[in-house]
Amino acid sequence: MLGVIGFWDNANWLYELSVAEKKYLSFWRISAKAFGVDKLIMIDLDGRNPVCGDTEIEFEIYSTLEEALDAYPNANIVFLENETAVPDGISYENLNDFEHPSEDVIYIFGSDFSGLALQSLDNEYIEKGTVVNVEMPVNASYPWATVMMGIVLYDRWLQWR
Ligand SMILES: C[S@@+](CC[C@H](N)C(=O)[O-])C[C@H]1O[C@@H](n2cnc3c(N)ncnc32)[C@H](O)[C@@H]1O
Repeated sequence: MLGVIGFWDNANWLYELSVAEKKYLSFWRISAKAFGVDKLIMIDLDGRNPVCGDTEIEFEIYSTLEEALDAYPNANIVFLENETAVPDGISYENLNDFEHPSEDVIYIFGSDFSGLALQSLDNEYIEKGTVVNVEMPVNASYPWATVMMGIVLYDRWLQWR
């Protein structure tokens, strides 16, 4: 199983325009499908209940990241976060050196507005996974989560194709 978790959160500009909401979900689902993702999971922090409308990819919604992680206790978890947002005391690897798990893996991308907030997640969850930073050509740049998903899944594909 190849899974991706993203956050569906308080993007007010997005919520005011239903077309934009659909478009933004399509960034996730179409890009995920292109990399063979089986399962797209959204953390619906504001109870917006996003609709996927695509039968070619499994779609699940949870209210919190903890609930989603509890649903997949045996998956290999990869947290993506830029190094400046990784709290002190939590170790991370750079994507360049990272060996992607071969199967049963879920990649987690943080909110475009507030990141992954690893400091709020219980250590027991963090310790079960690996935190990965993507070194960028321009320091202190934090591309959107959907862009990072493409970079990370392409890197995975290069390793396992
Ligand atoms: C737009 S960023 C979040 C920016 C957030 N406002 C902050 O300042 O931390 C959205 C998500 O993309 C992913 N991301 C962005 N840049 C990354 C990087 N250099 N390495 C790994 N993940 C990254 C992370 O999952 C991050 O939570």
